[in-house]
Amino acid sequence: MALLGGFAACRPHTNPDAEKLALGSVLFEDERFSADGRVSCASCHRPEHAFADTLPLSVGAFARQTRRNTPTLWGLPTNLPLMADGGVPPLQIGSLAVLAAITAHGDMAFDPRSLNQKLKAYPGYHELLTRLYPSTDPASAYLLTLQRYLLELSEQGRQDLNTAPPNNPTLIARGRSLFEGEAACIRCHNGEAKSDGGYYNLNLPNRMNELGRAAVTLKEEDRGRLRTPVLRNLQKTAPYFHDGQAATLRDVLEHYQKGAGEAGRWQGDSMEVEAVLAYLQTL
Ligand code: HEC
Ligand code: HEC
Repeated sequence: MALLGGFAACRPHTNPDAEKLALGSVLFEDERFSADGRVSCASCHRPEHAFADTLPLSVGAFARQTRRNTPTLWGLPTNLPLMADGGVPPLQIGSLAVLAAITAHGDMAFDPRSLNQKLKAYPGYHELLTRLYPSTDPASAYLLTLQRYLLELSEQGRQDLNTAPPNNPTLIARGRSLFEGEAACIRCHNGEAKSDGGYYNLNLPNRMNELGRAAVTLKEEDRGRLRTPVLRNLQKTAPYFHDGQAATLRDVLEHYQKGAGEAGRWQGDSMEVEAVLAYLQTL
């Protein structure tokens, strides 16, 4: 109980919400909830990478490679359906969204049926969860605690943390005006988190035989359509696209220049590419 020991020692029992939050961050990093005891949420959603990771495809319990690239959890809108295919309801619906998220990506080989039993084996957690959520069972309390933490990451990411003065304000301003104007990126990448919550097929090489949105709607026209991702802290979240096939932001823009399916073709010249790159790095 090293993690929890530290938690109990440094948190006075005064503010239940602060306690939920602190406990959420501890649970987020606890590997014992995975089937092989080696993977926590933070193994893939790494805090130092804006809660994404650096691998093209994430690696879960038993060193199994998964089908998708780990997305950022920073600034995730609470009303956005989750996952690249939108198959999981948004965070705002509560503990069920967290349960669906954990079971949907399956990367921890996490079995929700074992949760109450697991929590019994860790009396520290059991006691804290029962105290913080007296009217629910410990398994639901565990999920609500993770939800509270995810809401915090969502909130933090919405505040503008990029406070360093930009190196090249003119270039960035030009990039922004292209993004919002001629290049029409804003058609899909709009709102605070730069995602409209829509599904589009960008005509990317489909190495993983990706069904995309069709996995949820079972409609042929949705094959290969993916949810517009959040654009936040992009400098820390490489590689890009749902299967990590673009190593750099320059590679992403090259795809838009070649013609990106439903996103169309952006005919930016090399100076314009530099400008959009500079702008993307400020998001
Ligand atoms: C093995 C790596 C891995 C682990 C472990 C992991 N995730 Fe994920 N997470 C991913 C990947 C990959 C996706 C995107 C899956 C998709 O789009 O189908 C994702 C997506 C999500 C999303 C939705 C993000 C979005 O933009 O839609 C949430 C929320 C989330 N994870 C929370 C968690 C929580 C909470 C845990 C721990 C209980 C966890 N994850 C553990 C890799 C991981
Ligand atoms: C028609 C909607 C649409 C338009 C227009 C569009 N995008 Fe996207 N964008 C998407 C979708 C959908 C994805 C996810 C594709 C995937 O993962 O395979 C994406 C992915 C990205 C990514 C990678 C994000 C990540 O974390 O993996 C970046 C960066 C990006 N777009 C920037 C742009 C820029 C710059 C423009 C304008 C030149 C643009 N987009 C225009 C829908 C759009």
